[in-house]
Amino acid sequence: MSTESITQRLDAVVATLQKHEQEHLTRGLESVSADELESFVEQAESIDFEEVSALASSGGSAVGIPADLQPAPVIPRHPEGEETFRSAGEELIRRGEIAAFTVAGGQGTRLGWNGPKGTFPATPITGKPLFRVFAEQLNAIDERFDVETPWYLMTSPLNDAATRAFFQDNNHFGRSPESMLLFPQGVMPAVDDDGRILLEAPGVIAVSPDGHGGSLRALTRSGALDHAASRGVKHLSYFQVDNPTVHAIDPLFVGLHATHPASSKEMSSKMVPKISADEKVGVFCSAGGRTQVIEYSDLPAEHANATNDDGSLRFIAGSIAIHILAIDFIARLTSTESESVMPFHHARKKVPFWNPNDGTTVTPTEPNGTKFEMFVFDALEFVEKGLVYETDRVEEFAPIKNAEGGDSAESSGRLQTERAARWMEAAGSKIARNDDGTVNGRIEVAPATALSAADLAGRPCPEFDPGSDLVF
Ligand code: UD1
Repeated sequence: MSTESITQRLDAVVATLQKHEQEHLTRGLESVSADELESFVEQAESIDFEEVSALASSGGSAVGIPADLQPAPVIPRHPEGEETFRSAGEELIRRGEIAAFTVAGGQGTRLGWNGPKGTFPATPITGKPLFRVFAEQLNAIDERFDVETPWYLMTSPLNDAATRAFFQDNNHFGRSPESMLLFPQGVMPAVDDDGRILLEAPGVIAVSPDGHGGSLRALTRSGALDHAASRGVKHLSYFQVDNPTVHAIDPLFVGLHATHPASSKEMSSKMVPKISADEKVGVFCSAGGRTQVIEYSDLPAEHANATNDDGSLRFIAGSIAIHILAIDFIARLTSTESESVMPFHHARKKVPFWNPNDGTTVTPTEPNGTKFEMFVFDALEFVEKGLVYETDRVEEFAPIKNAEGGDSAESSGRLQTERAARWMEAAGSKIARNDDGTVNGRIEVAPATALSAADLAGRPCPEFDPGSDLVF
């Protein structure tokens, strides 16, 4: 790239910055190297300043709660026709129409883990990393259905290199590298309270991942959607990197999504009943005939606390962030004309920044800026019939989000043991339990051994000695 062309590009960037009253971003450029200048120009060119200005001036009004808000209708566990739906799902998996899609772009700040969250040791005894747990499940699915399931993995620019290195170092856990596609999600600039974009350092704009809702446009932009379409994939089984008990691909859920009359085959979701009014999960609701998720922080207390006559929570359908999305639906939502249909949520955060006035870097102790994020469940607004299916918490929701307490590795490990114990008990094993009902010991079942309780049925399980660790 010639110096001339960089100068021209810089001129164009400056003109855009002036138009959007962001010319302070050029402060300090006189002290940066030629390479740094080029990367500033590239970064600025990749930002849609029109979009950022519109967002910053919109002020992040609270999420509107529709007047006709109702609890979403839910397909119960073990629905009528369960076996038919499961067989239909199995057939689609066998035909190679289902791929896995993991969102792993989050920064995992709450967990305090120094690396991509997917590299975190998640299983209670052998400490298998989350990525390995999913890979082993997909290996088992491939063997069972004689397919090669494509796996799409969204990273972020902050953890992409480390994630790739982890898979390389581990030989992709036996998966073919061609069947896997890793791609970074998009980023959005952070703004201060006056709508001015913050600088991280001279010539470096402060950006952060654009939320898991950004995964839809990242799928399209990265070519992952084309990769899937060229392999005959029709639907993506979507899950978050933080949940080691997710069924990466669940035949029954696939069958419900693709063949149940309550689904328009665009986007379906799994729920578990909330354990308390203040549990930090989004809630499936319905308004104007459409399904939607209202995030816990946006659900008004009068709704969160509302109860039915029997005392149960009225808005009880907690989102565990497991969905199936049709490729055609994602393509439609992210076509150029409609690329910005997904709304951005505003999050007040502490954003470290470089102050051009005195040349210092400031690490704020109070929120000083706003980050913009899209949420994948907002896609439901564009879905004609968004099916919601109830599943069991112990069976598939043991997220690891925090370093300790609820939703930590410890609580997740206990749930993983409990699930394994239930599978074994269903197969006729005797499990030693403590007075409070918890398992006396730890159990870990490898995906190669079983993907669900049904896989253990009729098979002898190893003996479980009270107080011991059992891995099989
Ligand atoms: C999320 C959901 C919540 C749901 C709960 C279930 C949101 C806003 N809320 O809460 O409704 O009940 O999970 O566990 O999502 N991620 C990215 N890129 C990003 C941001 C996040 O890939 O830019 C990924 C993370 O890696 C993680 C997941 O999305 O796998 C969840 O993000 P997080 O911000 O931790 O959401 P929660 O508050 O846990």
